Amino acid sequence: MLLTDYEALASSPPNMPMKILLQFALCACLLQISLSVKYQEYILAPSSRTVFPRTINAVRGNVTDSDNILRKDTGTTRFAGADSSITLDFGLNVAGRISFSVDSVSRDQGNIPSVGLTYSESSLWISSQMSDGTGNGVNDVPFVFDIESPGMFTVPQEFLRGGFRYLTITLQTPGTVGITDVWLNFTAMPHFENMRAYTGYFHSDDELLNRIWYAGAYTNQLCTISPSEGDALVQGGIVPPGESAAPPGITFLNTTITKGTSAVVDGAKRDRLVWPGDFTVAFPAIAVSTYDLISIANGLDSLFAEQTPAGQLPYAGFPYPTPPGSFSFTYHMYSLMDVYNYYLWSGDLEYLKGKWDGWKKGAAWSLGTVDQTGLMNVTSSADWLRFYLGGHAIEANAILYATLQRGIQLAEAVNDHSVIEDYKNNMTVIKAAANARLWDASVGMFRDNDTSTLLPQDGNVWSILSGIFQNTSQALSIANYLENRWTAYGAVAVEAADAISPFITSLELEAHFSLNNSAAGLELLRRQWGFMLNDPRMTNSTFIEGYSANGTLHYPPYPNDARISYAHGWATGPTYTLTTYVAGIQLTGPAGKTWMIQPQPGNLTEVEGGLSTNLGKFSVAYTVSPNSFAMQFETPVGTSGSVMIPTFGKTVSYSIKHLNDNKVVGDEKKLVGEFFVEQDSLEGGSYQVEANYF
Ligand SMILES: *[C@@H]1O[C@H](CO)[C@@H](O)[C@H](O)[C@H]1NC(C)=O
Ligand SMILES: *[C@@H]1O[C@H](CO)[C@@H](O)[C@H](O)[C@H]1NC(C)=O
Ligand SMILES: *[C@@H]1O[C@H](CO)[C@@H](O)[C@H](O)[C@H]1NC(C)=O
Ligand SMILES: *[C@@H]1O[C@H](CO)[C@@H](O)[C@H](O)[C@H]1NC(C)=O
Ligand SMILES: *[C@@H]1O[C@H](CO)[C@@H](O)[C@H](O)[C@H]1NC(C)=O
Ligand SMILES: *[C@@H]1O[C@H](CO)[C@@H](O)[C@H](O)[C@H]1NC(C)=O
Ligand SMILES: *[C@@H]1O[C@H](CO)[C@@H](O)[C@H](O)[C@H]1NC(C)=O
Ligand SMILES: *[C@@H]1O[C@H](CO)[C@@H](O)[C@H](O)[C@H]1NC(C)=O
Ligand SMILES: *[C@@H]1O[C@H](CO)[C@@H](O)[C@H](O)[C@H]1NC(C)=O
Ligand SMILES: *[C@@H]1O[C@H](CO)[C@@H](O)[C@H](O)[C@H]1NC(C)=O
Ligand SMILES: *[C@@H]1O[C@H](CO)[C@@H](O)[C@H](O)[C@H]1NC(C)=O
Repeated sequence: MLLTDYEALASSPPNMPMKILLQFALCACLLQISLSVKYQEYILAPSSRTVFPRTINAVRGNVTDSDNILRKDTGTTRFAGADSSITLDFGLNVAGRISFSVDSVSRDQGNIPSVGLTYSESSLWISSQMSDGTGNGVNDVPFVFDIESPGMFTVPQEFLRGGFRYLTITLQTPGTVGITDVWLNFTAMPHFENMRAYTGYFHSDDELLNRIWYAGAYTNQLCTISPSEGDALVQGGIVPPGESAAPPGITFLNTTITKGTSAVVDGAKRDRLVWPGDFTVAFPAIAVSTYDLISIANGLDSLFAEQTPAGQLPYAGFPYPTPPGSFSFTYHMYSLMDVYNYYLWSGDLEYLKGKWDGWKKGAAWSLGTVDQTGLMNVTSSADWLRFYLGGHAIEANAILYATLQRGIQLAEAVNDHSVIEDYKNNMTVIKAAANARLWDASVGMFRDNDTSTLLPQDGNVWSILSGIFQNTSQALSIANYLENRWTAYGAVAVEAADAISPFITSLELEAHFSLNNSAAGLELLRRQWGFMLNDPRMTNSTFIEGYSANGTLHYPPYPNDARISYAHGWATGPTYTLTTYVAGIQLTGPAGKTWMIQPQPGNLTEVEGGLSTNLGKFSVAYTVSPNSFAMQFETPVGTSGSVMIPTFGKTVSYSIKHLNDNKVVGDEKKLVGEFFVEQDSLEGGSYQVEANYF
């Protein structure tokens, strides 16, 4: 930042009047002050790693002066007799290790009192007896301290809790214990000195959308952990080499899952593993909010380190069993698409070159499963925990089509033309076969596979996103059908009983916006994520992994409802969608070397969005009034792109002024039946767009 400002000054024309130079200097100074991104007040991440509970949720048994525990130096909260307990509410989902100070203890008949800690993300599982669950069997048992004498007590490193809003402190035995204060050592985002140092922002005249954007960003922060604090599933059966399984109900977090100092995992509470499918949604949301690319790269490196000689990539990262023992056709391809996303957001060609041989081997493995019908034949059902994946599944084939499409772009980036023809020809074959075999013209949807009558959400959403359809009327028909299946709580994934999947629906949001249907996109976003944020059983800060079509917090793949994760990165699609489609900042080339500004206001009248990449800052701010539209946007100097001005179905006259040199770039009156009018070939810089409608 400093360097750039200095360069701006240094490169200013030598004959520039002093007054203007001074203004320049003043500008630079203001820029310094506004280095922190806009709208800080919405950021949920704490400003310090020491976090205190906010309120008392419940008191049970004989507890006196309960409020004292909330603050230091206010005196003692006294617990007397077995099962006296307090439930503390941190006000939002948090992660880390609890400490508390004891100033007095008295034993009963010589027995040392013990204090247990239990945790829950949701208010549903608050209990003095058990935490919520990480496994499908018994919920997690309390972590217990024997209180021999006064002092400070801290949860050991590996017994940190990766996600909880409620903490219950229980005196489990007779006797008394006086506690003066309780605090949390917050462990997520271990590599960020300032966890509020966002690179992106979003704001609009809809407060719900603003809160959703920031809750998505924070969800991904809570899912970014020290790699040495991974794998909450040890007691659920995934035991790293050299360790023994814990008894049921004991969860400890000391498996090192990746190299480096941070890693993005699926969920804060569990599994705390690298899942490439989840990255598909989490990564773009991270890129537009904190631009924390390294925590994704560490995970991708760990997946590629386990690639088999035949090219198969693992379903999940270490210590998950490696292929072919455990393999997913779709997650294998998600890893390949994650590499594309990494290149798109970072622009790091060296990184791409390092992965390219593995990438081609991975794509070749997938192409090897395409049979005489022209479609991939899926022989392992492992996926996002939907049911019955197999055969010529539309989901897997649409994802393969999307993967090859990205492969062509990557091949061009590394200048390797050996595979492009194969990828293109296979795409042609797959598209023709999918439409011939799987398109059900009677309903206007793709069938799950050859023999199925199921019309899945995942495969149909992917068919829109991948472009595997043959004509736009198919895409519109699918989108319409999906919309008609929404319940009051969101979009239903019929391929997983009656699940609502925030993962697949994150992708469905993008599908609606990609068809220029911002009304549907915003409606689904408000309906599903509004519920996920505001329902009192939720955390009011992070997004849940899955639930049921009728709003019951039961996720069909899990027998144990307490196991559901309430902070899952795969549920954070809105953060990306609001920046990319509503504010309209789309990167079309590596790190935004090329871009498209395409705002989709829906019913919003004021929208602002911004992000940064390795190439610099991108920002958009616009207002909509009944017959006009005004927008300012900025993209880094040295880039190029286009702007799409919304028409709202009307005749539009517009002007685009390049503020760097005050040149008017476009000034036209158009009569169009399109959603947008396009002005292309713009160089990076600041622009002012004015449009009037007739
Ligand atoms: C509650 O505990 C206090 C000691 O902290 C004791 O004096 C009091 O008698 C107890 N009350 C009951 C109802 O047990
Ligand atoms: C929090 O934990 C870290 C890592 O163990 C430690 O370095 C730090 O001192 C702790 N901070 C507090 C306030 O306990
Ligand atoms: C992880 O923690 C568990 C529970 O404390 C312990 O049994 C195990 O030895 C630890 N493993 C490592 C590698 O530290
Ligand atoms: C797909 O694979 C399964 C399992 O190997 C096999 O039984 C089936 O015949 C294959 N389908 C086709 C159409 O090749
Ligand atoms: C096709 O989908 C149905 C569910 O709709 C499933 O029962 C069947 O097993 C799938 N076919 C294959 C070959 O997996
Ligand atoms: C599809 O790709 C495979 C592997 O690269 C290749 O052998 C095959 O010829 C391609 N199919 C077509 C129709 O080009
Ligand atoms: C679009 O493609 C589908 C699938 O091939 C076909 O059934 C339908 O008739 C086509 N519709 C139009 C309008 O071309
Ligand atoms: C969405 O708008 C773009 C730009 O005007 C247009 O090219 C595209 O065909 C539209 N898509 C649909 C489904 O109408
Ligand atoms: C939810 O969090 C927001 C801040 O993001 C806060 O303003 C609001 O009061 C909270 N709602 C409840 C019910 O706690
Ligand atoms: C809601 O769905 C759940 C899970 O499928 C089911 O157990 C429950 O009975 C349903 N509740 C109502 C009121 O329909
Ligand atoms: C847009 O419409 C939704 C209802 O569909 C409403 O809740 C929201 O407040 C509206 N937003 C604005 C800014 O008018």
